[in-house]
Amino acid sequence: NTVEWDPEETGKSGYDHYMLKEIHEQPRALRQCLRGRVDELSASVDIGDLGDLSPTGVQFVACGTSYHAALYGAQLFQAAGIPAQAFLASEYATGVPPIGDALVVGVTQSGETADTLSALREARSRGARTLAVTNVVGSTVARECDHALYIRAGPEIGVAASKTFASQLAALNLLALGTTSTDDTREVIAALRDLPGQVQSILDSSAAEAVAELYQDADAYFFIGRGQQFPVALEGALKMKEITYKHAEGFAAGELKHGPLALVTEKTPVFAVVTGDDERARKTVGNIKEVEARDAPVVAVTDGQNDAARYADEVLELPETHPRAAAVLANIHLQLVSYHTAALLGRPIDKPRNLAKSVTVE
Ligand code: G6P
Repeated sequence: NTVEWDPEETGKSGYDHYMLKEIHEQPRALRQCLRGRVDELSASVDIGDLGDLSPTGVQFVACGTSYHAALYGAQLFQAAGIPAQAFLASEYATGVPPIGDALVVGVTQSGETADTLSALREARSRGARTLAVTNVVGSTVARECDHALYIRAGPEIGVAASKTFASQLAALNLLALGTTSTDDTREVIAALRDLPGQVQSILDSSAAEAVAELYQDADAYFFIGRGQQFPVALEGALKMKEITYKHAEGFAAGELKHGPLALVTEKTPVFAVVTGDDERARKTVGNIKEVEARDAPVVAVTDGQNDAARYADEVLELPETHPRAAAVLANIHLQLVSYHTAALLGRPIDKPRNLAKSVTVE
């Protein structure tokens, strides 16, 4: 007796696509990233020798999804009082700001992206210390940089990054906590500890598939967010473009009124990521009202702490947590919306046209 099996199909563990499998691997990937690196009792983070880096400034360089993680990472250092900026790696060489003794951090899942490698080489040639935040041990970036912090997400086959984004955000939190000092270390560590379980409950209960069904015929999709949710808005739009081939854009919520609002109609759903009830959340709720007044369908990705749901047609629910962790959780809903939209449209989700997993040309 023989059993016929196709290794490619078996590798998907019963999921229709690698991307869906990898989206569902996020709780495990996050646990692996955090394992042995956080100590709740002492509220401390152990990232080995990297803890001694204590940067006085940080410049991030990255592409695609990793660039969105880099934008998020720069905010973490800024919050700790360290000047930090994120650069698109392909633009870095055009206007390298003074490096001084800044640490230059390349965020790259594959560790082989030519634009990112080249930006890091430029930084090194100007005397910078460099750190790779990567998924691949032994990758070019890990070999060339002075230091490496591994995100430990496990192999990612789907061309559009999914689980590695969550792991990058977690690893960047470890990097910021491990190399700077902030008042809310204990809260952030607690939020990181809860993250894998919260990701699992979103995977189990997200209304993303129903939202995808409702809006699969849309002309375009817009994503808005402020602060830590701004990179999530950008990533939500990138995922939608990559795997559905639909027009999608992510905007800083406050920027909508400075132009993009002209594109908003009843045929363009707007996904608004808004958590908490501070001044920033209230401003984003104001932006949601502007969109709603133009009859655009609004999908609020929210923790119910603000009025977003009142003005929304659909709600993708988040648990109450630290805004940093909320970014990871909100992104899970958005990944699922893109995935299900692409599935309904019959797209080749794991291998979108014109795209490559790792781009080794500049
Ligand atoms: C390619 C992939 C993207 C990815 C980007 C950066 O364009 O299609 O999904 O975000 O490269 O990849 P990296 O390996 O540097 O994170």
